[in-house]
Amino acid sequence: MSHSTLDRPITLWLTGATSGIGRALAQALLEQGQRVIATGRRRESLETLAASYPGQVTVAPADTTDRETLGALSETFTRQAPVQMAILNAGTCEYLDVRSFDADVIEHNLHTNVTGTARSMEAVLPALRHARRQGLPAELVIVGSSAWWFPFGRAEGYGASKAALAYLAHSLRADLAAEGIRVTLVSPGFVRTPLTDRNDFPMPCLIEATEAADRIIRGLHRGAAEIHFPRRFTVTLKLLGALPQSWMDRLAARMTRSSKEHPE
Ligand SMILES: NC(=O)c1ccc[n+]([C@@H]2O[C@H](COP(=O)([O-])OP(=O)(O)OC[C@H]3O[C@@H](n4cnc5c(N)ncnc54)[C@H](OP(=O)(O)O)[C@@H]3O)[C@@H](O)[C@H]2O)c1
Repeated sequence: MSHSTLDRPITLWLTGATSGIGRALAQALLEQGQRVIATGRRRESLETLAASYPGQVTVAPADTTDRETLGALSETFTRQAPVQMAILNAGTCEYLDVRSFDADVIEHNLHTNVTGTARSMEAVLPALRHARRQGLPAELVIVGSSAWWFPFGRAEGYGASKAALAYLAHSLRADLAAEGIRVTLVSPGFVRTPLTDRNDFPMPCLIEATEAADRIIRGLHRGAAEIHFPRRFTVTLKLLGALPQSWMDRLAARMTRSSKEHPE
């Protein structure tokens, strides 16, 4: 197997290509000569992308939580075969207001981020297996988050969904190892996108979406199974995560209180 699935120009599927990190990733990959099957719910935005890179983009609008529209993509994957990589990036972030605990917030995060990603896996795995049967490298890339490494206030639903995704990725990596399908987990810190533009609290080490795309692509070229950035943020979170639970709880409660008292 080659060092990286991106060593040669390939066809890849990217979800969440209409905005933020996904859009920046699409543009950077297209600049490098990759062919992209681009998914999101907003068709017009996908068409604008396709118009900027003639012949390189397949417009494939779909709701990743919807089995039927996703199922219809299998024809696209067959037509564009071999599809050697899927970057499952589509996601949402809804915060909980604990004063009026609403389980729908938890459900929405889980539905888009976990069920939507799992449905995307179901849709694309046959295409990745087809590539492997031809002796080609194949890779599933899951965009999670580093947010769940520390118990941030209001992030109950989002963090739970990304923790679930990390487990899903690691467990799937074990199951797919025998077939030679790589599973890569991407865990970004704060990235400036429409998703974080709504945040009213300080976002330490915030980076631009173009920088996030660059970090992800460099990680993929290295063949890294775990990609996390920016390091100064993710390494700090890892260190905090190694504290005894009672220390972490006190720190988390203090941070939550002070972000409520001093919103940005
Ligand atoms: N920004 C950050 O700080 C940050 C940090 C860590 C992880 N992440 C993760 O990075 C990923 C991208 O986030 P972002 O910040 O770039 O957010 P964003 O700008 O809001 O982009 C989200 C993308 O997901 C797509 N999407 C959402 N729900 C969908 C659905 N049901 N079906 C199909 N597509 C759907 C959206 O497309 P349509 O609206 O066109 O459907 C959009 O392209 C997410 O998984 C997020 O959790 C972000």
